[in-house]
Amino acid sequence: MNDYSGENYSIWQTAPLKIDEFKNLTTKEKLTHFCLVAHLAPSSHNTQPWRFNINSENFEISISVAKEYILPASDVNGRQTIISMGCALANIKIAASLFGYKTETIILNEDKQIFKPTEHNTEIIPLLKITLSSDTPIESFDDLYQAIFKRKVTRAEYLESSEIPTNLLNEIESLNNDKIKIHLVSDRLRRLTIGEFQGQADNFVINSKKFSRELGEWLLPNNSASFVGMPGIGFGLGDDEAQRLHLGLTGAIPLNPADGLKFSTGGKIGIEKSPTICFLTASDDTLENWIAAGEIVENIFLKLAAHNIMFTMHAGITEVSLINKLFSMSFLGTNRRILSLFRMGYIKRKEDAERPHSPRWPLNKVITNY
Ligand SMILES: Cc1cc2nc3c(=O)[nH]c(=O)nc-3n(C[C@H](O)[C@H](O)[C@H](O)COP(=O)(O)O)c2cc1C
Repeated sequence: MNDYSGENYSIWQTAPLKIDEFKNLTTKEKLTHFCLVAHLAPSSHNTQPWRFNINSENFEISISVAKEYILPASDVNGRQTIISMGCALANIKIAASLFGYKTETIILNEDKQIFKPTEHNTEIIPLLKITLSSDTPIESFDDLYQAIFKRKVTRAEYLESSEIPTNLLNEIESLNNDKIKIHLVSDRLRRLTIGEFQGQADNFVINSKKFSRELGEWLLPNNSASFVGMPGIGFGLGDDEAQRLHLGLTGAIPLNPADGLKFSTGGKIGIEKSPTICFLTASDDTLENWIAAGEIVENIFLKLAAHNIMFTMHAGITEVSLINKLFSMSFLGTNRRILSLFRMGYIKRKEDAERPHSPRWPLNKVITNY
């Protein structure tokens, strides 16, 4: 049995700071702490595509995208990568509000074409510059800040009949802004329909060589020492199952039909049985909106984590092009673009909530001038 205590998990032992503890840090340590919280954010396939550069003189952090981590099969436009960058940005803003800093964010590269994946491209492309300036600490951000250190995606079955409290759903919906609209679906019929779409998307993934090979490279055996990627335990897979699915998807051994079926029906069933599905849309499919969507996604995830409510992302509907078009026709009736979809609920089996966090690079890999 794997104990998930390797170096690739060690960052999760970092404790959150109190406002006074943060105050006593040097400027460089403060900026490093902001990068740490950003690095704990979710990212598609756990690619951790962010690279930070800290500028103590100007109290600034620049965040770039490591292009080799934009996945060519599942993220053809770089959309999921940029949404992940938005999640990381959200964490910096939350920690900054708690510790008494205003942030000003500039997008350094608005042209989304630059973020289309290309083979063997190791470019580091600047995306964001965040300048911090002193302000009053806002203690009410502490719940979200604490949640950054415990948040994780839990791909498991939730209790269909345990509804998310209405006041929390209202709070989530109020995170809407002029760019991004939040849609919450709790009625059974529409949840079943979304589950059907997800099933189709997962089926496509498992049956497409390009997609499944790529997924296999990122869905890892449980004892993997990798700092990126998703050990099978995160999908509820035992050690043997994880090893088999990894090898089966990469094509090293024939994919066990039962494993393939379990994978492609898991998302569908998970969605059907979750009390609420959330999806985000924008009128324009711009890079600015991808970042804004990522910020909202992470704020929602942290709110849910603070309430011990689990969540799982399903990018299939947003990225498998045909499914995306069908989904839009059924659910939106307009030309809005769906950018993100996830389900939420209270955990059904306690042991599923106790799975380990996913691995992370050490800070000296992601902060380029550590
Ligand atoms: C933009 C984005 C897309 C994601 N898409 C999926 C997905 O389609 N299926 C899935 O199981 N997890 C998805 N995830 C969750 C990531 O796999 C997860 O965040 C990553 O493995 C790190 O794990 P953690 O969030 O528990 O720290 C997505 C996350 C992000 C930010």
